[in-house]
Amino acid sequence: MNYEGLKIPFHVGIIMDGNGRWAKERGMTRSQGHEAGFENLKKLSEYIYAKGVKVLSVYAFSTENFKRSKQEVDFLMNLFEKKFKEYSELMKKRNVKIVFSGKKADPLPKSVIRIMKEIEEDTKTNTNGILNICINYGGHLEIVEATKKISSLVQEGKLKIEDITEESFSHYLFQDLPPIDFLIRTSGEVRISNFMLYQLSYAEMYFPSIYFPAFDENCFDEAMLVYNKRDRRFGGVKDEDKNH
Ligand code: FPP
Repeated sequence: MNYEGLKIPFHVGIIMDGNGRWAKERGMTRSQGHEAGFENLKKLSEYIYAKGVKVLSVYAFSTENFKRSKQEVDFLMNLFEKKFKEYSELMKKRNVKIVFSGKKADPLPKSVIRIMKEIEEDTKTNTNGILNICINYGGHLEIVEATKKISSLVQEGKLKIEDITEESFSHYLFQDLPPIDFLIRTSGEVRISNFMLYQLSYAEMYFPSIYFPAFDENCFDEAMLVYNKRDRRFGGVKDEDKNH
């Protein structure tokens, strides 16, 4: 689709939901669903950057996802270990920087943490966009961790309480990213599930019923048309509606 004249969100967030249901409908395993989800993410993210989006945040694995069966957790960790490198090569060609949000600590396997750090190092000078992959991530956890960092700086006398502002707070989050403009959650579930709570404050949200592995370029075009119909007021009122 031609995007001429369309407003393009600077930062898009995607909760990639429905891999399991997509697979079940096709008589496939949940693992195959996750694999199809990853393949889709590769194609879709290329398209999203090509259309001018600068920051893309995706929810790959929450802190709560560790409650799933050992088999599923192991499969996903293996997928990350095997596929992150391949994905980062693709993003390098596009000059996109990859960052990870979440705790790089237990229960994430050491091998996965090592690859995450290598990829961050390897892509840190890329300037054409940012891919933020949330893994072992929780929105509450992110805010609590930031509060701890700020508290110790204050305690050590390195930060003054009056210098803590809404803008400076984001500097202490897992990654210092701009606010999310547009959130897409696939599969028809209408909730946030602890995803980027600080960054979502004024995001427009869209909940298509399609499962993530099937959310293709055409679906993203449709999403952009929805975004362009939204009237973003950020808590204000449009001039023509100020009729007290
Ligand atoms: C939600 O679907 C999906 C996940 C918990 C995993 C998302 C991971 C990927 C798409 C792979 C990404 C890979 C890389 C390398 C970034 P679900 O399992 O909750 O589906 P269901 O709700 O239908 O059961």
